[in-house]
Amino acid sequence: MLYGKWRPKGFAEVVGQDHIVHTLKNALATGQVAHAYLFSGPRGTGKTTTARIFARAVNCRSLKDGEPCNACESCRAILSGSALDLVEMDAASNRGIDDVRELREKIAYAPSDLARKVYLLDEVHMLTEGAFNALLKTLEEPPPHAIFILATTDLHKVPATIISRCQRYDFHRVPNDAIVERLSFICAQEGVDVPRDGLFAIAAQSRGGLRDAITMLEQVIARYGASPTLDDVRAALGQVHDARTGKLVEALLTSDLASALDIARSVGDDGLDLARFTRGVIDTVRQVLGAVLRDGAAAEDDPLVAAARSRPDAVHLLAAALSELARADFRLDPASPVPLEVACASVILGPAPGVSAPAAAPPRQPAGAQGAVSAGLLARVLRARRGRSPFAGGAVRPGPLRALPDGESHARDVAQRVVRSAADGRRGAGTWLPAQDAARKGRHGMPGNGRRAGRGHSRAPGSIGGQAH
Ligand SMILES: Nc1ncnc2c1ncn2[C@@H]1O[C@H](COP(=O)(O)OP(=O)(O)OP(=O)(O)O)[C@@H](O)[C@H]1O
Ligand SMILES: [Mg+2]
Ligand SMILES: [Zn+2]
Repeated sequence: MLYGKWRPKGFAEVVGQDHIVHTLKNALATGQVAHAYLFSGPRGTGKTTTARIFARAVNCRSLKDGEPCNACESCRAILSGSALDLVEMDAASNRGIDDVRELREKIAYAPSDLARKVYLLDEVHMLTEGAFNALLKTLEEPPPHAIFILATTDLHKVPATIISRCQRYDFHRVPNDAIVERLSFICAQEGVDVPRDGLFAIAAQSRGGLRDAITMLEQVIARYGASPTLDDVRAALGQVHDARTGKLVEALLTSDLASALDIARSVGDDGLDLARFTRGVIDTVRQVLGAVLRDGAAAEDDPLVAAARSRPDAVHLLAAALSELARADFRLDPASPVPLEVACASVILGPAPGVSAPAAAPPRQPAGAQGAVSAGLLARVLRARRGRSPFAGGAVRPGPLRALPDGESHARDVAQRVVRSAADGRRGAGTWLPAQDAARKGRHGMPGNGRRAGRGHSRAPGSIGGQAH
């Protein structure tokens, strides 16, 4: 695997963890090496790599500026995996009290081929309670020739008694720039030419896990050869451009709830990754928002930008769309389009003026407040319709929502229920902020009712009525 081949050999090659590298090198330079370390952080961010470099550094016979030489006998023994005194134990498969007892017995013996014994306990949070207890005393007072390095991706599962006996280092997700830097280096070494935008696309998708990023790079190369294009990279990452992202943004910009719900449903029906699709929508919204804010003639021929520019409230609407879409949470039921539907409905049913009367548009209420109200209501409505929570595991899918014949009636139905629930919501609660209260008064009745011009937040003719009836 490419990531194994390019595992950093020295601290200088470890990217994105400068705070840790700096402190460890300092400790080596001043001889202040502790007897127990705890490395915690997300997968593939350099914990094991750093632990192995550190193990070589404390044993290296010609340490230079805190870097192991990788040439002396100790360094070579560790690099080749033949050093008896570097003990790597996977706590996920050796998790019991007997495993720790065995370790405790052996640790007492003097090192045989290195200056210091190093115990690297990976996935340490997997140890049983008994094993943790057996470890405690040794961890507190190991023989002077031994050093512990515990590594974990789940710090909160490690008992406080263990944590407090170690020097703790928190590995961070590797920043995109640092990932791109490392990927470029690997590409250069491998004689591969990937466009920089492609490397950024990989970095963004890896979400700070460098091992994942390198694996993605390897997949791209395996599939498209040594000089893939940006589109190749995107295709390999499954970021295939879906025309429906644009269509959905268009629906938001024209307050076309029926189309928006249709699209969300069809993406779900096609079995696509809804979270990824939603990220695509967010990207498109951001691009349109950027073009609108820059104002000039640029992107003039982009129909989405043109549609946005025809709305005086476009900036508020797009900002609200970003906020609502970013809140759509697909974790509980990744196959359900409901969070996306809720986000779209919140944007469209918000107090934005209908597209029919853009000239008289009062300023849209700041994004968030109103959206939160309708998002909550719609979520409740949709839950009620399905007879159980749409987020509770998806066992009842496809629910009645899917069975609806067409998007129009689906949209109307949802919107009507939102209106009714808004009216119901008036009784109870009592926690409304004044601005929201005004918004509610403007929304609970039938379309066209309850508009009270001249009282602070005057509201435009309801977009609910415009859409649902
Ligand atoms: N900070 C980093 N700098 C350079 N390369 C890295 C870094 N983090 C990870 N890598 C690359 O990813 C591979 C895996 O990293 P490593 O084994 O150190 O991750 P880890 O944090 O121990 O992950 P896990 O929690 O899954 O054990 C390395 O071989 C290396 O190629
Ligand atoms: Mg590891
Ligand atoms: Zn050395």
